[in-house]
Amino acid sequence: METKEFNKTNKKLSVIGVGTWELSSNREDNIKAIKYAIDNGVNFIDTAEMYNTEDIVGEAIKGYEREKLFIASKVWPTHFKYEDVIKACEASLKKIGTDYLDLYQLHWPNKSVPIKETMQAMEKLAEEGKIKNIGISNFSLDEMKEAQSVMSKYEIASNQVEYSIVTRDIEKTGVFDYCKENKIAVIAYSPLSHGKIFNNKELLADISKISGKYGKTPAQVALSWLVHRDNTFPIPKASNPAHMKEDIGAAGMKLAKEDIDFLSGLESKYYTEPIAKQHKKNEDKVNNYNFKEEKIN
Ligand SMILES: NC(=O)c1ccc[n+]([C@@H]2O[C@H](COP(=O)([O-])OP(=O)(O)OC[C@H]3O[C@@H](n4cnc5c(N)ncnc54)[C@H](OP(=O)(O)O)[C@@H]3O)[C@@H](O)[C@H]2O)c1
Repeated sequence: METKEFNKTNKKLSVIGVGTWELSSNREDNIKAIKYAIDNGVNFIDTAEMYNTEDIVGEAIKGYEREKLFIASKVWPTHFKYEDVIKACEASLKKIGTDYLDLYQLHWPNKSVPIKETMQAMEKLAEEGKIKNIGISNFSLDEMKEAQSVMSKYEIASNQVEYSIVTRDIEKTGVFDYCKENKIAVIAYSPLSHGKIFNNKELLADISKISGKYGKTPAQVALSWLVHRDNTFPIPKASNPAHMKEDIGAAGMKLAKEDIDFLSGLESKYYTEPIAKQHKKNEDKVNNYNFKEEKIN
């Protein structure tokens, strides 16, 4: 499996990671899919306390050498007070069945808790060895800078943001360039546009013009386009081994420059608003979300 260095660590991560939000209800298939990925060289698995999939990840990774894996989870904004961050992390460790997380991320910004308080808790967890890297998710450029400025000892390792062939807002807001300049990894979520690329026949036909040349599928080419971006790690979600097999088959491709240019041109035709934009409009609801309400990611 092709790997890339995860900035600021000496870890080499598989260029395709595994996302686990909204897995299908077939738990056995979900576990088989994650195991299939690991057996085929994937070492990067992303979950979150809010997904209710930490136990599935825990079950899937049982029996594999822990230090060969890179396990990421996230704390939800309702748990951003100091003691709550510590407790949420401990609960995640327990559900996953591990002593440490390779990456612990703030899932969404939360203006109602001072970021310094939250970051102090993240640094405490890092000092204690419970987390190896501190990450953020859905943070804007200013929010990233602020989060870094209140940290005393550690640096932000990654920002997990929506990024796909049809959603490239992070390139326009300065987030992508800032991450690159500061060696902050971009973890690309919803890299298949939350499945929307499969529903758009014209888009699929356009991507197929390229995928056909390489004997690959449109999903593989859409993921490979992200793998070709500097500093970027896509984490598609696949609920079953067949989807997983296809998705991880995106690793190792080398796209020609003219094909990358063609694919880069598709966003202007098929732009899809990021999920986060709708949630930003609804930020209070996101930050007050309690785990019994409808899911908001
Ligand atoms: N930090 C955040 O706020 C945030 C927000 C959103 C997502 N994420 C992370 O990013 C991960 C991926 O994003 P996502 O789940 O939103 O969307 P995604 O990976 O872009 O798309 C997932 C959808 O595509 C389908 N799919 C995957 N591979 C396929 C294939 N080869 N052929 C046909 N269909 C395929 C999946 O179906 P099946 O389920 O049937 O396989 C699912 O419906 C999440 O699981 C989560 O870990 C993070």
